[in-house]
Amino acid sequence: MSNRIETLCVQGGYHPGNGEPRQIPIIQSTTFKYDTSEDMGRLFDLEAEGYFYSRLQNPTCDHVAAKIAALEGGTAAMLTSSGQAANFYAVFNIASCGDHVVSSSSIYGGTYNLFAVTMKRMGVAFTFVPPDCSEEELEAAFQPNTRAVFGETIANPALTVLDIEKFAKAAHAHGVPLIVDNTFATPVLCRPMEWGADIVTHSTTKYMDGHAAALGGCIVDSGRFDWMAHADKFPGLCTPDASYHGITYAERFGKEGAFITKATAQLMRDFGSMLSPQSAFILNLGLESLHVRMARHCENAQAVAEYLEKHPKIAWVRYSGLPGDQYHALAEKYLPQGSCGVVSFGVKGGRTAAEAFMKRLRLGAIATHVADARTCCLHPASSTHRQMNDEELAAAGVSPDLVRLSVGLESKEDLLEDLEQALQSV
Ligand SMILES: Cc1ncc(COP(=O)(O)O)c(C=O)c1O
Repeated sequence: MSNRIETLCVQGGYHPGNGEPRQIPIIQSTTFKYDTSEDMGRLFDLEAEGYFYSRLQNPTCDHVAAKIAALEGGTAAMLTSSGQAANFYAVFNIASCGDHVVSSSSIYGGTYNLFAVTMKRMGVAFTFVPPDCSEEELEAAFQPNTRAVFGETIANPALTVLDIEKFAKAAHAHGVPLIVDNTFATPVLCRPMEWGADIVTHSTTKYMDGHAAALGGCIVDSGRFDWMAHADKFPGLCTPDASYHGITYAERFGKEGAFITKATAQLMRDFGSMLSPQSAFILNLGLESLHVRMARHCENAQAVAEYLEKHPKIAWVRYSGLPGDQYHALAEKYLPQGSCGVVSFGVKGGRTAAEAFMKRLRLGAIATHVADARTCCLHPASSTHRQMNDEELAAAGVSPDLVRLSVGLESKEDLLEDLEQALQSV
């Protein structure tokens, strides 16, 4: 199979044989039948490949995970029931009570909450660093118990662009992997593993599905991080797992398979946030057109950003596709084909003006969602980020007047007309 992104979007992950369904079959079965208990036992011991219970693995989900692994250039992947579950599993798979993680402060509000509140309660400590920090500042954030570094390629909603090479270099100097949430860029616009990321996560709920139809998440492993070379830091991967008959994942499954096998065998078994086969099927329909849609999202968003930038009622615009944007140079390096469909901006008059403007949009609906075929908008300070105080909002790059506009696939002209009529009335 070709490695070109367009072909992988359409045909990756599933290769039907003679007379088999052309479309990925939905295996809507919780369980699988075996002739003997010995057959079943070999599956439980991870000695044979196969399915026994859809909480751990399901063939429909595995086909779609294989497609996303191919798109990201990884060796293994797993689907989860949401992006939240993907980020939780990706971090918790290697960092548990007593461990520490360095994270960019410019991340999705839900992920910030997961890290700063819920995982903190579980005993995992986080140090947040600005995405634009110097190498020295980044270096200073590490501790002897640091187990991972985390960031978002294009952060939601601040739209900062992560200097992936800088973060990867620092992580590797400390013998830990870099985890990158690539939700907004998708592998069509950026493949973080080509720049040094070890693990990539996704909220597939966003562009990958693209139609606001199915929640989902994905974790992809590059298969490059040498866990055994840093065995003291990763006992979960490098010493026998008593809950799985003494298997040492890094020994048995190597660099290519250890991370995802452990996340499946332990975390999915115990927490059970599996994607349903129906949702995996819907996700795959989205993936089939991802490359076509991303190009159009970028084209429309670029036009919207350029229009807003010149508008007298707009205070500021953040879109790394704009030459004057603070992140334009990083976007030219990491996102040469476009900066996704999300544009952030402030309406003159602050929070009140922003709310009035959003109410008057006709094509753009107010929705918690983003990265949809239909244009939608959100005021993060009063929704996704409302748990943050002003200081935390500033660190996350979310000002109180910030409007996040997710530019859809409608006609560019219609979108600009809609923005104009809404701004006229503010
Ligand atoms: C960058 C990013 N990561 C993770 C998530 C969480 O994904 P989900 O809503 O699918 O749980 C989101 C949700 O908006 C997101 O934007």
